[in-house]
Amino acid sequence: MGKIKVRDRNFSVSIPEAKIKARVAEIASQISKDLKDKKPLFLAVLNGSFIFAADLMRGIDTPCEITFVRMASYEGTASTGKVHQLIGLKDDIKDRTVVIIEDIIDSGLTMKSLLQMLAEKQPRDIRIAALLVKPGNLKVDLDIPYCCFEIPNDFIVGYGLDYDGEGRNLPSIYTVTD
Ligand code: IMP
Ligand code: MG
Repeated sequence: MGKIKVRDRNFSVSIPEAKIKARVAEIASQISKDLKDKKPLFLAVLNGSFIFAADLMRGIDTPCEITFVRMASYEGTASTGKVHQLIGLKDDIKDRTVVIIEDIIDSGLTMKSLLQMLAEKQPRDIRIAALLVKPGNLKVDLDIPYCCFEIPNDFIVGYGLDYDGEGRNLPSIYTVTD
């Protein structure tokens, strides 16, 4: 399935399933090594990161926990990212080593506001694990120690990422071609 259609747009495969799997396993062992005995709390950002989070966590071989947040953001015009709201973090993260799991960092504004909100809760350490980063679009300075792939600015779907709600189920990552 090299070429597919999601809604009205055509896509072709850009990162095949096997390559994602291998890279996620690599990042998972890096995290396991770096955070051994720190009992990291993974904080997966819904919805897009659910598949990445599930695969990443199964590659971790030191005791760890996971919890979830959902970022409410305005779409389209408000891509200024000014208004974001954190929904659902009930966990006490004070003095914890937190690893944010995000599907994709585009402008970085979502991540920046999440980091600011989390910092107020006084974790010991916050690190970012991102499946994808679009360095060409980054508008803020972010330290991303665990990045699986850097990609061009083109729109992508698959492996949890959606185009208007669809395409999350695709096991590979696809880039728009039209
Ligand atoms: P940021 O605040 O610009 O970094 O926004 C990141 C969010 O935009 C991600 O969590 C995705 O939901 C969405 N996003 C950015 N680029 C893409 C893409 O190529 N495909 C699907 N969603 C994307
Ligand atoms: Mg997302």
